[in-house]
Amino acid sequence: MKAEVKLSVEDTNRLLSNLKGLTLTEAEKIITRLIIEDGALDARDIGRVIDAKREIVEREGVLEYYPAEEGMSDIADLSTLKSWLSRRKEIIVDPEKASRFGLSFPKGVLLLGVPGCGKSMAAKAVAKEWGLPLLKMDPSGLYNKYIGESEKNFRRAMDTAEKMSPVVLWIDEIEKAFSAAGGAEDGGVSARIFGTFLSWLQERNGDVFIVATANDVEKLPPEFLRKGRFDEIFFIDLPDEETRKSIFEIHLRKRGKDPSRFDLQSLVHMTEGFSGAEIEQVIVSGLYTSYSAKKELDTDTLTREISATRPLSEIMAEKISRLREWAAERTVSAH
Ligand SMILES: Nc1ncnc2c1ncn2[C@@H]1O[C@H](COP(=O)(O)OP(=O)(O)OP(=O)(O)O)[C@@H](O)[C@H]1O
Ligand SMILES: [Mg+2]
Repeated sequence: MKAEVKLSVEDTNRLLSNLKGLTLTEAEKIITRLIIEDGALDARDIGRVIDAKREIVEREGVLEYYPAEEGMSDIADLSTLKSWLSRRKEIIVDPEKASRFGLSFPKGVLLLGVPGCGKSMAAKAVAKEWGLPLLKMDPSGLYNKYIGESEKNFRRAMDTAEKMSPVVLWIDEIEKAFSAAGGAEDGGVSARIFGTFLSWLQERNGDVFIVATANDVEKLPPEFLRKGRFDEIFFIDLPDEETRKSIFEIHLRKRGKDPSRFDLQSLVHMTEGFSGAEIEQVIVSGLYTSYSAKKELDTDTLTREISATRPLSEIMAEKISRLREWAAERTVSAH
């Protein structure tokens, strides 16, 4: 079969780097399919390779391939975390050069914090900023009723992550994945997976950067916090005044609204104790209200939405202050 190749050198490199992690047979199959479809191989096919790779990763049922969406610029504040990450970008881009200098690929970070303050968002932004694919582990896909299968699923997922490296592996709400560890409720399965995971954290091959997130430190096995498992543990707290202002600006702009038409100072003042997610929700509800009233979104509408909201920090005040106290001694502030 004759095929036309319309790829620049750069395109070719991108195509090749996207084929990384696939077996030769898998790669051949994908390329053949792309050529048969239109008789040519061109830059548009790079996106299709990514899609095909996603299918292969997701077939296992434990890992999910995430397209890069938001970058760091969509996140207000978290400046300490951002600069920590940007200082490591050079290593990620050229790990071999860094290794000659004596630096190894970073292991990962654990992000602890108040719900709705940007943990998941930050995990996604890391991959985008570093230009790496993002794999999300779904712990619920791990557990299987057949003896021994859960551990195998986990091993397979870790193998896939290594095969795809360099990659960011995002484990959301890690305390849920291993919450039963130590307990006997599930016949020790989660305890065994937890053990496997800890040793994998220590010995893994391949450049896999882990971003783990957690809300509930009480359910987090203490082994995670021991030095050496993660490079750093960051604590993400509720946004302060300045950050709330940026969050309003980011989310108003995202929806085509000019922030300067709003009394931001008063909105910021009223949203003391609100998380980023709650501020976003205020804007979204405000949009619904004003749309059905057939008028533009304004400060008054937002003010009413704020008054109607009882923030989580009020409902869970005690829990959050315990979390803060705990974090003060053991973690680095992300702000
Ligand atoms: N610092 C921030 N800047 C901009 N938007 C934010 C910020 N924090 C939160 N948000 C908004 O809130 C939404 C929810 O945040 P995210 O899902 O990252 O929170 P989380 O900390 O992972 O919460 P949870 O513990 O509930 O999973 C984000 O999609 C974003 O729109
Ligand atoms: Mg989250």
